[in-house]
Amino acid sequence: MFCADCNGLLAFATFAATPGNLPDRDRIAARRASVDLRDRSGVWRYRDLLPEIPFEQIVTLGEGDVPLYDGPRGAEYARVDRLAYLHLGMNPTASFKDAGMTVAVSRAVATGARIAICASTGNTSASLAAYAARAGMHALVLVPSTGISEAKVAQTLDYGATVVAIDGDFDAALATVRAQDPNRVAIVNSVNPYRIEGQKTVAFVLLEQRRWRVPDWVIVPGGNLGNTSALGKGFREALALGWIDRLPRLVTVQASGAAPFSRAFRTNTDLVPVHAETSASAIKIGAPASWRKAKAEILAHRGTVTDVDDAAIADARAIVGRDGVGCEPASAATLAGLRELVANGTIGASDDIVLVLTGHVLKDGAYAARYHESGAAFANRIVRGTDPADVIERLTAPA
Ligand code: F0G
Repeated sequence: MFCADCNGLLAFATFAATPGNLPDRDRIAARRASVDLRDRSGVWRYRDLLPEIPFEQIVTLGEGDVPLYDGPRGAEYARVDRLAYLHLGMNPTASFKDAGMTVAVSRAVATGARIAICASTGNTSASLAAYAARAGMHALVLVPSTGISEAKVAQTLDYGATVVAIDGDFDAALATVRAQDPNRVAIVNSVNPYRIEGQKTVAFVLLEQRRWRVPDWVIVPGGNLGNTSALGKGFREALALGWIDRLPRLVTVQASGAAPFSRAFRTNTDLVPVHAETSASAIKIGAPASWRKAKAEILAHRGTVTDVDDAAIADARAIVGRDGVGCEPASAATLAGLRELVANGTIGASDDIVLVLTGHVLKDGAYAARYHESGAAFANRIVRGTDPADVIERLTAPA
């Protein structure tokens, strides 16, 4: 997982198509009609492009095939003609982590591992817990003892994992995980290249739904930066296979209180870890493990990196909800980032834009409740002591 010389992250080489193994995208898409979850999965359908894992050892919950929704209210908010949300919160455990986790846990099964471990701000832990449960494997997760979503911890406990709350943040938890002996436990954070291989299929699922029409921009939230790395690899492989004719421009948006990558990118310097602070708890990460890979992808995709403050994330999240979609705070950094990049002229109003929503609104219901109680710009208060007939009267009154 780590280079013996430099301790950097290892990665699978970019998939090289040869005349003998040229995967056909239409044949792959046709697997959706199967009743076998391993065919229907938006990850395993693309198994021709994944590291080889015995078919019978695949651990799947039918992940990956998530909807692409149009977002007219989000578009209006960001002052663009149109945008689409790729909603990875519609995965089995309600976050984008499942696409990578199904591959990492399947690989762990294939190697005979009995225990899998991860550090998490909540979503990786829930995903690992679910897949480990399916595999009959023990899941051990390290989470910060404060500041993460209660719903995510409850979900993780529900799937039967051992949850160790540590006296420290995500970065401290990940350092502890990285210090474990990989021969004794399978480490399934995104430092594990199998996770990245699974997550790269998100690029294929996105393109497939657009009939391989490449968007101008794909915007993702960034924390530990595994997702930026994975999506970038997916798009590059699609290009190498001739499935698409150009790369989209890739943008990573961080929370301003946890934006070491944004700063490093802007100044073109090595990443300097920070102590992270943001109410978007999923991306409260100060020392992202995959920053070098993510930087290479952003450059290859002629993209950029920015950051947005917590208030901007909070309002943007409420707007995503008004599209009838909904997401957790970290995901909404994409819409807040888009709004800023349109305002400063980086992104044009008529550009073709996809925002990657990484987690479901119910992942952090307490955050949503607080927002609506706060009286903020797009808050929607509970009405008390009102006769519904009066509401109907008001809504149907001639203007
Ligand atoms: N969005 C959500 C909802 C997340 O949970 C995460 C990361 C990210 C974005 C950032 O993705 O780390 O690949 O850049 N969550 C991890 C976890 C850290 O433990 O659940 P990234």
